[in-house]
Amino acid sequence: MRTTFIVGNWKMNKTASEAAGFVAELSRAIPNNPTVEIVIAPPFTALASVRTALGPASNIALGAQNMHWEQQGAFTGEISGAMLRDLGCTYVLVGHSERRTLFGEQDGDAHKKVRSALLNGLRPILCVGESLDQRTAGQTESLVTGQLAAALTDLTSNDLERVTIAYEPVWAIGTGHAATTEQAAKVHRTIRAHIAAGWNQATAARMRILYGGSVTPQNAESLLSESEIDGALVGGACLKTESFATIALAALNRRSG
Ligand code: 13P
Repeated sequence: MRTTFIVGNWKMNKTASEAAGFVAELSRAIPNNPTVEIVIAPPFTALASVRTALGPASNIALGAQNMHWEQQGAFTGEISGAMLRDLGCTYVLVGHSERRTLFGEQDGDAHKKVRSALLNGLRPILCVGESLDQRTAGQTESLVTGQLAAALTDLTSNDLERVTIAYEPVWAIGTGHAATTEQAAKVHRTIRAHIAAGWNQATAARMRILYGGSVTPQNAESLLSESEIDGALVGGACLKTESFATIALAALNRRSG
């Protein structure tokens, strides 16, 4: 059984001071329930204050939005996996489409980051997804499996136990036009089949595959009703306590419903 997984990607929002108050509120709004895993990924600058605000007993875990693959060195402006781990992060997003399209990240970079995350005891959440042009051209499947193949090459099935995939169609991110539950489920099945073919069926069956792209309190229940969709990677709707808590509750109801 795959534990439902809700991740809030704050992107470049909230200062460290704003984050502390927000997290205290969020902790009160989200019931402590081990059947749903919840992670928030604030900007680097807010990680320490969020960690402190969450406290040691929180059911909300900490993730980062990006990392560099080297351990240390002359990489001005970069943050290593070891630094994130030291701050209490357990997860890290890798290959988000904004990193790919706005900052020129390549599949090879995603691969190095996934490896480095694992080396540093972090669990990578690898983001994949097609643009509208690629979807229109019928390239969704080949694009997504290509991104997976590049980023996961030479990983063992043991490594994959610690990896989550997030399917985030670029055309759905920040647009208010989420993929339909059926569209997402179809790509999730392709991703799972790719893992089964490249590694094995058991690893594929255990792999959590999240959907991201305009997930809202309104559509979360429908998306999460699909057994292929193991959770959500939420952007805009995670910036307000009420909307993120509603999505978390939809995940909880899914388990008990
Ligand atoms: P939105 O939920 O704002 O569309 O963002 C999705 C996303 O990119 C999460 O990583």
